Amino acid sequence: MWRKKGLFLFLAAIVLVLAACGTKDSEEETTSTEGDAKQKIIVGTEATFAPFESMNDKGEIVGIDVDILNAIATEMNLEIDMRNVGWEPVFQQLKNGELDLGASGITITEERKETYDFTVPYYEATQLIVVKEDSAIASLEELADKKLAVQINTTGHIAARKLQGETSSDIRAFENLPTAIQEVINGGAEAAIGDNAVVLEYLKNNPDAKLKTIESDDFEKEYYGFMVKKGNQELLDLINEGIEKIKENGKLAEITGQTIQ
Ligand code: ARG
Repeated sequence: MWRKKGLFLFLAAIVLVLAACGTKDSEEETTSTEGDAKQKIIVGTEATFAPFESMNDKGEIVGIDVDILNAIATEMNLEIDMRNVGWEPVFQQLKNGELDLGASGITITEERKETYDFTVPYYEATQLIVVKEDSAIASLEELADKKLAVQINTTGHIAARKLQGETSSDIRAFENLPTAIQEVINGGAEAAIGDNAVVLEYLKNNPDAKLKTIESDDFEKEYYGFMVKKGNQELLDLINEGIEKIKENGKLAEITGQTIQ
């Protein structure tokens, strides 16, 4: 009886030792392959925002944000899976974990920082007013009681609310910026307010739309960052390291055409 128990314990001990070795072996295997296996990052965007993100005729998402992410991916050995999910879904899907990263010309704001974390800035922007070529409007103040078109829940929308008040019924908010600008062309709004580089790109690509832009010092400087769910420090550190690397090697400035600290 006692002898049997002794033998059992002995065998049990051997099993435990072997099991421990087994674990060690498989752990080593995963570490050794880590060098080649790329970490996949699921990125969400709204791709009607040229030159930052738009769809080409092959159905691919292209633009400055894509180029920056690809440059970071090369430095940090990452695989980028970019999806055109729409503007508001970028925020929702980041929150519920369907996306890892938001890359959509997103301005770093104090309000967004309550729910998300941002990388260091990679681009400086500001708002720009767009009106019809023959419009008499010459300043932001003159738009205080005019119909405005913006992309919903963007910094352009916030600027319009700041001008006209939170509850103004003269602000029309659209899913994307091109639709907001179209509203000006159609005569449904006197002006649209949107990110400067994107408005200028729209005018360049639509020379027959007969639009012009108006600048205003009342618009603050804005900085774009990539956005993660609050607390995803690991991914934040990874992307920040990538941004620092492409700042240092000149790649970021080459892509954006501007230098940022
Ligand atoms: N920079 C602005 C913001 O963060 C607008 C960004 C809109 N981006 C887009 N891909 N539609 O509010």
